[in-house]
Amino acid sequence: MKKYLDDFIVVSNERLNHEYVVLTLKHPDRLPHMMPGQFVEVKVENGPNTFLRRPISIHDVDKEANTMKLLIQEIGEGTRLMGALQEGDKCNLVYPLGNWFSLPDKPDVLLVGGGCGIAPLLFMGRHLKANGIKPRFLLGARTSEGLIALDEFKKLGEVYTTTEDGSAGTKGYVIHHPVMRTQDPDIDWIYTCGPDAMMRVVAKYARNHDIRCQVSLENHMACGFGACLCCVADTLDGNKCTCTDGPVFDSTYLKW
Ligand SMILES: Cc1cc2nc3c(=O)[nH]c(=O)nc-3n(C[C@H](O)[C@H](O)[C@H](O)COP(=O)(O)OP(=O)(O)OC[C@H]3O[C@@H](n4cnc5c(N)ncnc54)[C@H](O)[C@@H]3O)c2cc1C
Ligand code: FES
Repeated sequence: MKKYLDDFIVVSNERLNHEYVVLTLKHPDRLPHMMPGQFVEVKVENGPNTFLRRPISIHDVDKEANTMKLLIQEIGEGTRLMGALQEGDKCNLVYPLGNWFSLPDKPDVLLVGGGCGIAPLLFMGRHLKANGIKPRFLLGARTSEGLIALDEFKKLGEVYTTTEDGSAGTKGYVIHHPVMRTQDPDIDWIYTCGPDAMMRVVAKYARNHDIRCQVSLENHMACGFGACLCCVADTLDGNKCTCTDGPVFDSTYLKW
């Protein structure tokens, strides 16, 4: 897929809580085709330590409005500067990067996300719905405050939640939710993105129940185009770059 380098304009910055913001970015002309699971590399302006672009998943796309959304979790200098962008600011992106989630060949689909890993699942949920598949979402967080964008997910399908402290939804990790406890799950495909440990457990569950599972890895990246090899994942075919061969992999292809 062709890559672009464009200045977008920030049309809104919505703060969800002390840690997360959603940036809505308008394309200067017409947004090109992009797929769920792909990501952008954001140029961070004015940061003394942010020479490298930062990879961020495409959270949502509105072709009519010519906008895309990015969900930013502020964890360091780069993401904090992104979170400080204001309406009218410029945001330079290289996009769309990486591969994308496949459409399922069966109808019962569960999307499992944790932390900022929920970002690509909204766009994927919209894509599934547009293709006649009703997605279900299982979203996990440490506390109820970390369960973000639930209203957006609820517009697309049923939403289950877990929190580690039990302040909302089922207490525990996503794997403790009843939808993943049954021995005979009504799930054909799982798509997951979030902390590595969460995805490994979800992938193991999928393997044990003969469920097809695609994971979107968020390995540390530097160059973002396959040159530095800092983002490699260990696969059945040896090391593969998450930035160019991924970020989406079939879980059985990874040596987990
Ligand atoms: C394909 C992909 C998609 C991503 N999508 C999103 C997204 O939609 N929203 C979002 O908020 N973030 C996303 N990330 C993570 C995001 O890129 C990092 O959080 C960001 O680069 C950190 O930059 P920083 O300057 O804020 O922090 P830094 O100062 O670079 O790092 C701060 C701390 O975070 C750790 N860190 C940095 N990068 C990562 C990472 N990839 N995973 C785990 N820990 C990390 C560092 O080790 C350090 O401890 C994605 C990453 C990848 C690879
Ligand atoms: S980030 Fe450099 S090879 Fe992937």
